[in-house]
Amino acid sequence: MMEVTAKLSLSGLMGSNLYKKEKVAVVDGGGRGSVLVRAYAKSPHVGEVLAFPGNDMMGFGTGKPVRTFPGIKTTDVEKIVRICMDENVALVDVAQDNAIEVGLVNSLRHAGIKALGPTKGAGQIEWDKEFAREFGTVHGSPQPWYRVFKSEQEGIDFVKRHFAKDGAPVFVKAAGLAEGKGAIPAKNVEDAINAIKEMREFGNAGDTFLVEDWLRNEDGSNAEEFSAFAISDGIGVKILGYAQDHKRLYNFDEGPNTGGMGCSSPPLVLDAVLQGRIVNIISSAVDGLASKNRPYTGIIYLGGILQYKNNELNPSIIEWNARWGDPEAQVIVPGFKTDMLEVGMSAINNRGVLPVRTDGLSRIVVAGVSRGYPDKEKYKAVKGKQIFGLDEAMRTDGVEVYGAGVSVQDGRYYANGGRLFYIVGSGNDAVQARARAYEAIARVSIEGNNLHFRNDIGWRDVARLRREEL
Ligand code: GLY
Repeated sequence: MMEVTAKLSLSGLMGSNLYKKEKVAVVDGGGRGSVLVRAYAKSPHVGEVLAFPGNDMMGFGTGKPVRTFPGIKTTDVEKIVRICMDENVALVDVAQDNAIEVGLVNSLRHAGIKALGPTKGAGQIEWDKEFAREFGTVHGSPQPWYRVFKSEQEGIDFVKRHFAKDGAPVFVKAAGLAEGKGAIPAKNVEDAINAIKEMREFGNAGDTFLVEDWLRNEDGSNAEEFSAFAISDGIGVKILGYAQDHKRLYNFDEGPNTGGMGCSSPPLVLDAVLQGRIVNIISSAVDGLASKNRPYTGIIYLGGILQYKNNELNPSIIEWNARWGDPEAQVIVPGFKTDMLEVGMSAINNRGVLPVRTDGLSRIVVAGVSRGYPDKEKYKAVKGKQIFGLDEAMRTDGVEVYGAGVSVQDGRYYANGGRLFYIVGSGNDAVQARARAYEAIARVSIEGNNLHFRNDIGWRDVARLRREEL
């Protein structure tokens, strides 16, 4: 009965034949895209998934045909629109930030194709950090103080003056998209000046940059971060889940920032009161964008921080993202029990977003990266080296593996990028999920000892469950 209801409701939403199998497309080539492909493939309404560009492991675990387009970039708007028209794709999930920035959603909709994701205008909340902070100021959102600079010298002069005044540490951030590497922490004047000079390396994305307060706890210790995900139809907001990312390269949150070395979900620090405050922050942003005539349709991701002040935890906005997080999607989406196609369609068709049911399990994902990542010059030597043990990892109880920069030839796996694969352990709590993820990744290696991963993903929640001090 349940399944018939689902079919009828989807049929109503899409105006399509009750038994027709649809094609869905995902615009992404990494681990997040792999998770989305697998989730759409689970829908009884989906017959085939297309992925732009996709990766060699995207068909794994789907049980359905998955077609990848390795020659197509996520910003190849005309090519993607043309293929989706020719293939009569029912829904395109635009999951990659640079595709939002170039207006892929606008072009798809213009061509009459249903696209899940914000338009370029609504997505500016991610691809332009100056816009995002000014939007936050106008709407009274909780966020750090910030200054915007378009000249390196002016930024350096400001930092010298500012530190002479109160000595606070800062973050220097490229205003544009920088593959998750554009936010640089600076503990002192020298670090801040070096960070400002590094903005040049991001090309246009770093032409405008921000100097922001580094939000910490009252006692100066590091504050805890969280990632919150919701879906909106431009008006309403439904929470999809929460995670805690581990962005630094090494254990104990040391080393350079990366796109994310692992995540845990749900983060135990987020109690019902904090979740309520987070929902309000997201709803108010969606309302604010609607009032600017930029209705936000799709996944909205609040990257936040919890500052301990006045005996309570206070959420603030670190950044907005116009998409799922990677690897946050890997610990949230696999738990969905509601049909992804129906959820996406409900948001697009402005009929009120469907609530998502989940399996209630905890998940931990560990990112496997090439030694040298995130420095392209360093990790390029790992390209082409053979990866061993992935099949054994996939067979581990309570584990799923998602590919990203892996090429598959004759059943063998080879490194083909910085971020290679993601191993997700699930369990009744973070301790069990983590044990499973690490049991699986212990089976994997790369020729020449070239695999790197963090050993401490989920450490906060494991410590909380063991009642250890954080
Ligand atoms: N994991 C951080 C991000 O996706 O931006």
